[in-house]
Amino acid sequence: MTSYATGLEPRCYALVPAAGVGARSGAAVPKQYVPLAGRAMLAHTLEALAAVPGLAGTLVVLSPEDEQFEMAVPGFDAGWVARSGGATRADSVAAGLRELQARGAQPHDWVLVHDAARCLLRPEWVTRLIEACAEDEVGGLLALPVADTLKQGSHGRVMATVDRAGKWAAQTPQMFRLGLLQPALAAGTEGVTDEASAVEALGHQPLLVEAPLENFKVTWPADFALAERLLTSR
Ligand code: CTP
Ligand code: MG
Repeated sequence: MTSYATGLEPRCYALVPAAGVGARSGAAVPKQYVPLAGRAMLAHTLEALAAVPGLAGTLVVLSPEDEQFEMAVPGFDAGWVARSGGATRADSVAAGLRELQARGAQPHDWVLVHDAARCLLRPEWVTRLIEACAEDEVGGLLALPVADTLKQGSHGRVMATVDRAGKWAAQTPQMFRLGLLQPALAAGTEGVTDEASAVEALGHQPLLVEAPLENFKVTWPADFALAERLLTSR
């Protein structure tokens, strides 16, 4: 295991990949810009992160073609923006890590990667993750034990029932040291849909930190209405 002892207290940065198109959502604009309760989804996400105590900085990674951010998220003046998103989420995160490094982040610093599309995030869940991982060798992620019975499907029919025992649904933020996450993603991002799987591929076992179902990722067309109901009922 790499030693990160530097004598300096590690800092925590948030990195928000927001360079996707939201194909599954069916929306006419990239889903992070769909208005929910009067503001773009991404504005809600960034507001939650802004309320997390102790973050050294928040970086949003946008598509190079993005022309909507400044209009959709006014007042993100203290935050950092990089228009360096890539073809996959992992590429966008890797680009964000390079940007954080250029802005002074060190290998022993923590990076909390959080999906723009998880706009129901609560600051206290992030604090719980930070406290759980602060002394950990590897880092970890918010996740939810799977409640439903799982089916393996094919062409709309059940092929098998999958044992759900011990299975968790991975959420974000996912919190790892810059010096671990960067080589993990560089080792190959083929099929990598979260940071933890890249870290696992190096032989590590990230910490699972339980979080509520409410931290779901807006993915499908019906998810917008659900997210809006939850946001307006707060
Ligand atoms: N993301 C990104 N760069 C990409 C793809 C995704 O930064 N090339 C971001 C999305 O903007 C989103 C997060 O990663 O905030 C989670 O990805 P997902 O929910 O899959 O979003 P999309 O890829 O936009 O949606 P879809 O897969 O339905 O196209
Ligand atoms: Mg995607």
